[in-house]
Parts: sequence; structure tokens; C-alpha cells
Amino acid sequence: MKILFLNGPNLNLLGQREPEVYGRETLADIEAAVRERARQLKSRIDFRQSNVEGELVDWIQQAKGKFDLIVINAAAYTHTSIALRDAIAAVGVPTIEIHLSNVHAREKFRHKSLIAPVCCGQIIGFGQKSYILAVEASVHVNEINKSK
Ligand code: DQA
Repeated sequence: MKILFLNGPNLNLLGQREPEVYGRETLADIEAAVRERARQLKSRIDFRQSNVEGELVDWIQQAKGKFDLIVINAAAYTHTSIALRDAIAAVGVPTIEIHLSNVHAREKFRHKSLIAPVCCGQIIGFGQKSYILAVEASVHVNEINKSK
């Protein structure tokens, strides 16, 4: 199974950025932990980050036929991007939305996710562990989809 991990704007700053909210791990630390869990579960991953909305749209479009699942932390674009939502809906690759922080316990503008309705589920609020849980959820979703 192949999983595409996508990370949106400012997640390249993890480790320095509001550590009381996002923790002290860098995105490279998270990637290493995801790679290890994926290896244990016999999955392959591609792990990318961009601050550019259009680049994330391109990567979602290119995932069709190449990846079984997408896991996306769209960061601030979660709350604003119709383009990301349309891309996820258009390609039809099962997609899991994740966040490090519990967005529902934060500012009101973070309570709305424009991508949630086109994702198969959400994992929110477990810090770095949200990414690990997403690898496990991907295996689960893939098994269900194969048995259909
Ligand atoms: C985030 C939550 C978003 O609201 C915020 O804009 C981020 C990070 C998270 O992982 O908790 O950049 O996606």
C-alpha cells in the first residue's frame, strides 16, 4: 500500500512554531516516526510539505493511480480552501484529514473544515501521534475498500 502524506503552510516551522500548541518535534522528526510505523505495517509513504496552495492541488491530482490513500494536514488551508476540497473530490483517492492540535478547542475560525465533507475521516488533536494514527487508519480504510 502506498500513502501520500501532504502537509500545508507553516508546518515546515514545526519545532520552533508555537511549541505550546504544536509540540517540539520538527516535521522531519514526524516524518521519521511515520516512516517507521509505515515500515512495520508494510506500507510505503511519500511525505511532502508546501506553503503553496496550488502545489498541494497539483500533488492531489497527481496521486490518482499512484497512491492508495492521501493523508493531509492542510493546516490553515483546511479552513479556507475550496480548491483543495475540489481536488480531493475530483481525484477520488480516499483521503484522511489530520491535525496536530484540537482545532475545535481553539479559535472559532478553526472549527470549520472545508475539506472534511470529502474526506473519509478526521484525526485531530493528538500531536505527532495524529500522524501515526493516520498510518493505522489508512491500513484500515484500504482493507475495507479492497473487500468491497
Ligand atoms: C493545524 C491546525 C490549523 O488550524 C493551523 O492553521 C495549522 C496547524 C494543526 O495541525 O493543528 O497550521 O492544521
